[in-house]
Amino acid sequence: MRRSILAALPILLAACVDEGTVTRPDDRAPGAEQRAADVRSEDDMVALGNEVSSALIGELMGRVAAAIEEGGPAYAIDFCSTEALPRTAAVAEAHGVELKRTSARVRNPANAPDAHERAALEYFEAEMAAGRALPSHLVQRADGELRYYRPIVVAELCTTCHGPRDALDPAVAEALDRRYPDDEATGYRPGDFRGVVRVSVPAANR
Ligand code: HEC
Repeated sequence: MRRSILAALPILLAACVDEGTVTRPDDRAPGAEQRAADVRSEDDMVALGNEVSSALIGELMGRVAAAIEEGGPAYAIDFCSTEALPRTAAVAEAHGVELKRTSARVRNPANAPDAHERAALEYFEAEMAAGRALPSHLVQRADGELRYYRPIVVAELCTTCHGPRDALDPAVAEALDRRYPDDEATGYRPGDFRGVVRVSVPAANR
């Protein structure tokens, strides 16, 4: 079990991130804001985006995998909805960036895309629909920000909580109904494009 979960780490970052508001200044890496301020080009933004999105994967996935092993997927849903937010905020704070996950079909309404995120989602969807390989990232200037997007693809494990409704474990369906009455994030199959992680810094002077 652990092995299959850990194998999914690169994409499971999506499992329970939220755009956080809790700050933990003690977690801030020395010079984090300087790192963000040093972004002067698209290449710099890609490097920072790769680094921060990978850090988020490492932070969240270890915890989601542990929660599933500890109490099963229904328990992990409850865990995600309470724990993911402050942990995501801590990663954002430590790197001096903004972090958000979003999708065309959200589970948590707080993750709903803005107009620029929607354009990014449509870009990745169009690439897949055209039969091309999914691009590794997209960089965008929007609303005074430089934004990096990393696409997220559904793996087998994701279908435990995002698969077709009628195939969900009853305990998972019950937990979802209770916490997310407007859930749009079921019906996915392995290989589907699920959404993006966005990493942003202010675009001033870049
Ligand atoms: C244990 C159940 C569970 C598993 C496994 C899981 N997710 Fe989720 N996922 C959730 C929950 C709960 C949320 C809403 C959490 C929140 O409030 O942000 C969520 C939210 C998301 C979001 C944010 C957008 C939205 O719908 O709110 C994305 C993207 C996402 N999941 C993708 C994935 C992918 C890809 C995988 C597999 C690699 C995965 N998830 C595995 C439960 C799960």
